[in-house]
Amino acid sequence: MPAYSPGFRSLDTEHDGLALDVDGEIPAWLSGSLVRNGPGRFEVGGERVEHWFDGLAMLHKFRFEEGGGKVCYSNRFLRTEAYREAVEEGRLTSQFATSGSYLDQLRSFLDDPTDNANVNVDRVGGEYVALTETPRRVRFDPTDLSARGDQTYADDMTVHHVTAHLRHDDRRGETVGYATQFGRTNKYHVYRVLDDSTANGARPSRVPVASLEVERPAYLHSFGLTRRYAVIVEPPFVVNPMRFLLPGSGGFIDKFRWKPERGTRFLVFDRETGDLTAERTAPPFFFFHTVNAFEDDETGEIVVDLVAYEDAAIVRDLFMASVEGDREDSAADAGPVLDAATGELARFRVPVEDSGRGADGGRVERRNLYTGMELPRIAPRARMEPYRYAYGQATARKGQNGLAKVNVETGEATEWWADGCYAGEPIFVPKPASEEDDEDSVAPEDRERPEDRGVVLAPVLDTETEESLLVVLDGETFEELARAHVPHHIPFGFHGEFFAEITT
Ligand code: CO
Repeated sequence: MPAYSPGFRSLDTEHDGLALDVDGEIPAWLSGSLVRNGPGRFEVGGERVEHWFDGLAMLHKFRFEEGGGKVCYSNRFLRTEAYREAVEEGRLTSQFATSGSYLDQLRSFLDDPTDNANVNVDRVGGEYVALTETPRRVRFDPTDLSARGDQTYADDMTVHHVTAHLRHDDRRGETVGYATQFGRTNKYHVYRVLDDSTANGARPSRVPVASLEVERPAYLHSFGLTRRYAVIVEPPFVVNPMRFLLPGSGGFIDKFRWKPERGTRFLVFDRETGDLTAERTAPPFFFFHTVNAFEDDETGEIVVDLVAYEDAAIVRDLFMASVEGDREDSAADAGPVLDAATGELARFRVPVEDSGRGADGGRVERRNLYTGMELPRIAPRARMEPYRYAYGQATARKGQNGLAKVNVETGEATEWWADGCYAGEPIFVPKPASEEDDEDSVAPEDRERPEDRGVVLAPVLDTETEESLLVVLDGETFEELARAHVPHHIPFGFHGEFFAEITT
């Protein structure tokens, strides 16, 4: 068993506002709640789920009280239909890689997708929702984390696979997402939800932005958004949708195939007109997470930063049997899966208009910035802008996962590591401007782009004690300011969000 195996152990305990022991000092200005999502239980009816992505959703909340430097912890299973079926009937509905019966698969895919929303949390149309990649969004109460049923859209867009990584554009007052529709024809849809569409208690509505028919849809997890464009990055990990209808083993993801000869396509849609402004193909790579995207007005290119992998083997590597060390393939030589993650923070420059550079005018340029990263984040104010810092989980060392702050202009990185500790997604929380005690002490260039004036919050599993921590790092120096001790392990999760307005 790898040292990190407690990260894949189920958690039974639930807490409500437990004050945590804190070493060090949490900044007094920090107020609000970090809410995180991930699997809390991996066994159903005596059977283990097949894939890390298929554990039963559990929400975790770390609430910081202004002035007190205190942190209170709550956690709760997301009590969904999938949870009830799993716990009461010992039945797991078909998910990412955990198949169930053929009938279950069909039912799940066509008209009753799982509501086990364990991937991310967000605020959409004024409601807090837990998200996954099926078109089900589960509302939850931000105070006690109880599930409040599905959030439904007022429109009738038919989609089957969606992103759990929506992008917010505060300037336009909208949230943008994409979804894949499978069927006689397959389509990628880009849509937007107007942030004020739920005034007067109305249900949110998706407004179509663009659609593109594709013969072999790819597995997509996140996308890029700039002020003007939505960029679907399409790795050659594709499915013949007929496979969904044929009996066979495995779940959703097992139907996809790696076709490197296709390359990875950048599909650039104009958010205003819906036009496919550019379509560029780069040598093949796979990815889950974009970091940021923006337009470079000087070169006429779109810059897309993401965490790239050579191929889609990472999907197979995150099956439970693999993460637990039972790998039968040759990659087992590399050691436990989480100790050999190879994500590359890379910058892609995608020409939008004919740049007049001859035959190479349409070439996508790739530059690697940092090796060994996952779960990337940026400061909220850096979205869609030329920016400086990416924060992420650092994965290059054996026996631990650290945290990294990478200057994406220079590739220079500052890291945080602790022996035997596995860190998860770091979330940057900006220090409110009103809290700046001495503006004059800030260098002029930092006053313009204070993307690191604040703290970074990350969950950490200490494999020595088999307990979890929440670490608080200084955004500028990346030094540890404080750590809060959770009295048990927290299974490895995926994504979270800091909500300054959740104060109870
Ligand atoms: Co993700």
